[in-house]
Amino acid sequence: MPTLVNKPLKVILGVTGGIAAYKIPMLIRLFKKADADVQVIMTPSAERFVTPETLSVLSEKQVLCDFFDPATGMWNNHVDLGLKADAIFIAPATATTIGKMVHGIADNLLMATYLSARCPVIIAPAMDLDMYAHDSVTENLRLLESRGVRIIPAEDGPLASGLSGPGRLPEPDTLFAEFMKIMNPELPLKGKHVMVSAGPTLEAIDPVRFIGNHSSGKMGYAIAEAFTKVGANVTLVSGPVSLQTPQNVNRIDVKTAEQMQEVCLEESQKADIIVMAAAVADYKVENQAELKIKKDENLTLNLVRNPDILQELGKVKKPSQTLIGFALETHDGQDYAKDKVVRKNLDFIVLNSLANEGAGFGHDTNKVCLFDKTGSEKSYPLMSKKMVADIIVKQAICYHLSGNFADI
Ligand code: PMT
Repeated sequence: MPTLVNKPLKVILGVTGGIAAYKIPMLIRLFKKADADVQVIMTPSAERFVTPETLSVLSEKQVLCDFFDPATGMWNNHVDLGLKADAIFIAPATATTIGKMVHGIADNLLMATYLSARCPVIIAPAMDLDMYAHDSVTENLRLLESRGVRIIPAEDGPLASGLSGPGRLPEPDTLFAEFMKIMNPELPLKGKHVMVSAGPTLEAIDPVRFIGNHSSGKMGYAIAEAFTKVGANVTLVSGPVSLQTPQNVNRIDVKTAEQMQEVCLEESQKADIIVMAAAVADYKVENQAELKIKKDENLTLNLVRNPDILQELGKVKKPSQTLIGFALETHDGQDYAKDKVVRKNLDFIVLNSLANEGAGFGHDTNKVCLFDKTGSEKSYPLMSKKMVADIIVKQAICYHLSGNFADI
């Protein structure tokens, strides 16, 4: 898996005065987990939103807030700080800080360090939606970008003001992943295409009713998102779900199994890795009513088989492709999963069983076991679907590169 760089990355993490600063402790933890050396510099107003003590404990370093250390009176050498850093990451970056960066106003230690730095500078703006949309802010961001500053855009969502819209600081894991992408462009799946399917398919009975299943799309969406973090171009073929499209994912919406098959067969042609996490309806109604069926006595529906998309993908699988399926079972899971790997010509399959509490449909967690075509298996405990997605992505990369599971 990619590391930040070969040596510990020296990051100056600039924290400015916005409510989104509450996310920074978690961001620091992610940096520390990746062995980065984090020097936090706070602007005076940032201290009102998160304490230097918290950030100091997590970064395992004294947090710098001023040109002079109040305890010793020593001068914090901003030129030295700026020159020694591998990157400056300012998150959240307020409208004020962005404006100061544009105009070179060095009235605090962070700004003086920014002006002295020669390393890449990355900022994650966060503010209320009208501020974020204001001409002065958009023009300032455009100017900074034209000078080489990399910008992680704010997200759309609920804001501290009670309003909702663009301006929200992305969650710490997204900030970290985006930072990683910018700093470490040699990601393992850079330039590779991945197709993921997610969610249910719905088969109409009449214009009002349908046959469906309980898939929420959470598992497939988490996988699609995890693939973007390792540099892949991700196409997500999604049945009807109420989830937000992960950043940098190309989402194609479908409703029925036949629509999903058409899109998957087309999109899979350019895919290096394919993961079918969708819960595809195995049956559709033979004769769909054009008008609403009026209730009368009992209703008998004749159901006919839908295509097995994964099996079709297995038939046309190229030697360079890695094909991964899911198996959702209620009993005898291992036997069914092992049968599906062979019958559908898969590289490996991810078994999740409704017999396990917290696994399968709808939950934020899952418990999976992976079986490959050679009989190898990997079993994992119950964990969040995001963590399961990271494991599947790691195994997919390893399988794609070496034809074996990774030792994780
Ligand atoms: O969406 P969530 O709420 O997060 O739930 C996640 C999940 C339980 C839906 C997911 O983890 C999962 O197990 N997806 C596959 C569900 C399923 O259809 O399993 P299956 O054993 O019936 O199918 C085996 C494989 O064939 C699957 O990869 C499926 O996508 C594929 N298939 C199945 C039927 C069909 N007609 N076409 C297919 O391609």
